[in-house]
Amino acid sequence: MAKKDATSGSGNANPMWGGHYAAGPSVIMAEINASIDVDKRLYAHDIRASKAHAEMLGRQGVLSGKDVKAITRGLDAIQKEIEDGTFVFSSALEDVHMNIEASLKEKIGDAAGRLHTARSRNDQVATDFRLWLRDALDGLDESIKDVQAALLDKADEHASLTMPGFTHLQPAQPITFGHHLMAYVEMIGRDRARMRDCRARVNEMPLGAAALAGTSFPIDRASVAKELGFEKPMENSLDAVSSRDFALEFLAAATVLGVHLSRLAEEIVIWASPSFGFIKLSEAFTSGSSIMPQKRNPDAAELVRAKTGRLLGAFSALTVIMKGLPLAYAKDLQEDKEQVFDAADTLRLSLAAAAGMVRDMQPQEDALKKALGVGFITATDLADWLVREANVPFRDAHRITGRIVRLAETKGCRLDQLSLEEMRSVEKSITEAVFGILDPVQATASRKSAGGTAPSNVKHAVKKARKRFLSA
Ligand code: ARG
Repeated sequence: MAKKDATSGSGNANPMWGGHYAAGPSVIMAEINASIDVDKRLYAHDIRASKAHAEMLGRQGVLSGKDVKAITRGLDAIQKEIEDGTFVFSSALEDVHMNIEASLKEKIGDAAGRLHTARSRNDQVATDFRLWLRDALDGLDESIKDVQAALLDKADEHASLTMPGFTHLQPAQPITFGHHLMAYVEMIGRDRARMRDCRARVNEMPLGAAALAGTSFPIDRASVAKELGFEKPMENSLDAVSSRDFALEFLAAATVLGVHLSRLAEEIVIWASPSFGFIKLSEAFTSGSSIMPQKRNPDAAELVRAKTGRLLGAFSALTVIMKGLPLAYAKDLQEDKEQVFDAADTLRLSLAAAAGMVRDMQPQEDALKKALGVGFITATDLADWLVREANVPFRDAHRITGRIVRLAETKGCRLDQLSLEEMRSVEKSITEAVFGILDPVQATASRKSAGGTAPSNVKHAVKKARKRFLSA
């Protein structure tokens, strides 16, 4: 153990690799070198990979059947201790791999030392990390799917509820609440696809690359890959131990997903603001103010919005760590896991909060209706009507409608509150029939083009999306 001397080498050399070391590391060295607090999360994957490795060595005649049995039993016992909370991790043993191996030695003696035959921590950690991320990706897929399920149910329920659609956050055209939510189903559907793509590249096995050059032992990598559920062993040993693009890819996809969640969260913040009042959130996803008794703050939405910063931070940290690293392994790579673990944790929580808020939100019909009366939201419908019914070229129809809007503005009324005479004072060809299309509900119903906002489209889109996204 290192003494409290921060600079000099002290204590005993590391029993795992300290053959040519006379003393232990300085306190500072031990502190900067240790990763156990972070990488102990890999324990189950480390044990699983070690067992597969030992069994393969047994099959290949490198280890005796007796040793393989002892190793397997010992590793199982360690896993149980870790899961029972009785295992004591030591930071003097640096990382999860050496903690487990040291404990194995205590349990089974010399056979423990044979486990590391034809293996290095370099291929070991890359393998464990990929196994961990593969599981995390599977869990995240379920979480993303649950957000989609929540959005789909809400969209279905409010397929025909009319609300203002915005561009530049200015009232643009009426849309349906369901259609708006379905936009997010599509966006995060692509996030799921990105994660699935990433999983395919995560799912290749570094083990057997050893330190960097492969090994002279007669190992059978294909059988280990199969046992661990990997698609295949990686082709090049240098690449296998030193590449982390699988992690970068995950963090990039996580960042894009975070961006999408932050947009949804921002809309929830806006919609829940009393100035809009488009939705109500219950007490479950809001909090009060310690000074202003009337407040119901959308904290969960704000935090989901903010967490995107962590995701991009993780992506940018690992990108900088990787940039310019010479092949093959370098200790810089030890910094990879903290970023990926944090991003996965962040996403899991953000996704759960997003799903919860979507289920919780109640659209407020009265407020939506009121908002539809602002901003001449059916002006485009009036222009389209002139094109369709009066054969006016669209550019002219746009100009004529602009003048009618100005008239309504001066009078301080909505378009449908102008009289026919007033409209005709701008454009002679307008008839009584125009009032049919000035109603926002009619306007949304008429937008039946593929991908458009009409309630009938939304119902169809929900059905289709349930099949595309929820049945698999
Ligand atoms: N804890 C190390 C990591 O996470 C394991 C690999 C150490 N390899 C070495 N050659 N020191 O990267």
